Amino acid sequence: MWTRESLHELAAGELRDYHFVVVSNREPYIHSHALGTIHCDMPPSGLTAALDPVMRACGGTWVAHGSGNADRETVDANDRVGVPPEDPRYTIRRVWLSKEEEDGYYYGVSNDALWPLCHIAYTRPTFNDDEWKVYRAVNERFARAVLQEVGGGQAFVFVQDYHLTLLPRILREANPNLVVAQFWHIPWPNREAFRVCPWQNEILEGLLGNHLLGFHIRYHCNNFLETVDRSIEARVDYDRYEVIRGGKKTEVKPFPISIDFEEVSARAREPGVEAEMERLRKSLELDDWIIGMGLDRIDYTKGIPDRLRAIDRFLERNPEYRGRLVFIQTGVPSRVHVPAYRRINDEIDTLIEETNWKYETGHWRPIIDLRGPLSPLTVMALRRLSHFAIVSSLHDGMNLVAKEFVASSVDEDKVLILSEFTGAARELTDALLVNPYAADEVAEAIKAAVEMPLEERQRRMRRMRAVVQENNVYKWAADIVAKMVKIGSGG
Ligand code: F6P
Repeated sequence: MWTRESLHELAAGELRDYHFVVVSNREPYIHSHALGTIHCDMPPSGLTAALDPVMRACGGTWVAHGSGNADRETVDANDRVGVPPEDPRYTIRRVWLSKEEEDGYYYGVSNDALWPLCHIAYTRPTFNDDEWKVYRAVNERFARAVLQEVGGGQAFVFVQDYHLTLLPRILREANPNLVVAQFWHIPWPNREAFRVCPWQNEILEGLLGNHLLGFHIRYHCNNFLETVDRSIEARVDYDRYEVIRGGKKTEVKPFPISIDFEEVSARAREPGVEAEMERLRKSLELDDWIIGMGLDRIDYTKGIPDRLRAIDRFLERNPEYRGRLVFIQTGVPSRVHVPAYRRINDEIDTLIEETNWKYETGHWRPIIDLRGPLSPLTVMALRRLSHFAIVSSLHDGMNLVAKEFVASSVDEDKVLILSEFTGAARELTDALLVNPYAADEVAEAIKAAVEMPLEERQRRMRRMRAVVQENNVYKWAADIVAKMVKIGSGG
């Protein structure tokens, strides 16, 4: 079983002669002004939640966009700051972007083109060449920051996600001493879907700058290999999962990402959680109702309207649960400058309003809307209060919310309803797996969840906890680090 300590040992031994550099758009700690002081918060991001414990164990430098309004005031003369603030274990090197750059690179290409391109959720990607030029320039900016951090020495550079597709090639050409790997946190679509992207060749060439390219599941690796095979000149080896282009090799492998199971379970058991549960029970007037929850970054890929429609269908078909079951929808607004994200918020507002109006009686209403930032303690208390959770993504690379719910279920008495279109569904086979597009099917799963006998609830949850405990984030990182070390030593 991999732990923080064993990953630390692996890193101390194997990464000894290398500088370890992680690069992502999103930074793991954001400094911002609030109520006259500077706060340091962690963003709602599966990527940063997974990589922060890894960096605490490995040490090194994390290069990321400095997005907080107090970020510039908290760095040193080299744009660096030690984190976590209370006990620094690694360094963030912040990259500064203007509003126009953020617009073109982050909101434009990354989240209005590549995100909908890779998620099959029937939202159309928008391709704008001016934004592509900005995206290119920003990738070059990140490359300069990484090369500066590394100096002329040897380093493992671990790039994250679709914001930085051009970076690996730039790095590999600039410094042959680097071992460059990238993890793609979202799905890779099939060849036909990817074909509509006007920048496909440049993106593929950029990604083939990596020595190692990781996806959550083998299916995404296969999609990537087929995309390369059909788009650019390269030799694709389907047996070894490798691409050779211009004499350079890229290994393409699945690494299912995860969470720090022990840490989340320990936080679920902290004494403050019970008090917070009590506070929520009172302030939300929860009586002895059956509680379901949804916790998401507000994104059209998460299937939030589909889930709300399923709750409506459930109450329509099972009137005996009116006045007895409540669903708490939490979630943090995200990427609100992209029109599709504004529309999804409006749609959620309307659905919650209509469903509550249809069924509410006395102080009971079926959906409690808790969208907005919540403290980690409140989120944990909500998980602990719930009898079931719904993760209804229309398409999702992994979905760590599902794994966090499992790790928080220390009473082993909760049911997870999980979309079959998440990477997590491949591991969490004891969840009630559903097609989120089929409202009736999800409504039936809600009924099955609330009527499931205790023994079955426990049996399923115990098995899922064992899976997440074993396949934890330290295993994910150790597998990648071991592979990078092998590549670095010419293996
Ligand atoms: O996991 C996919 C991802 O896009 C990450 O890259 C990102 O940090 C997370 O979702 C949250 O999105 P954002 O950083 O755009 O708020």
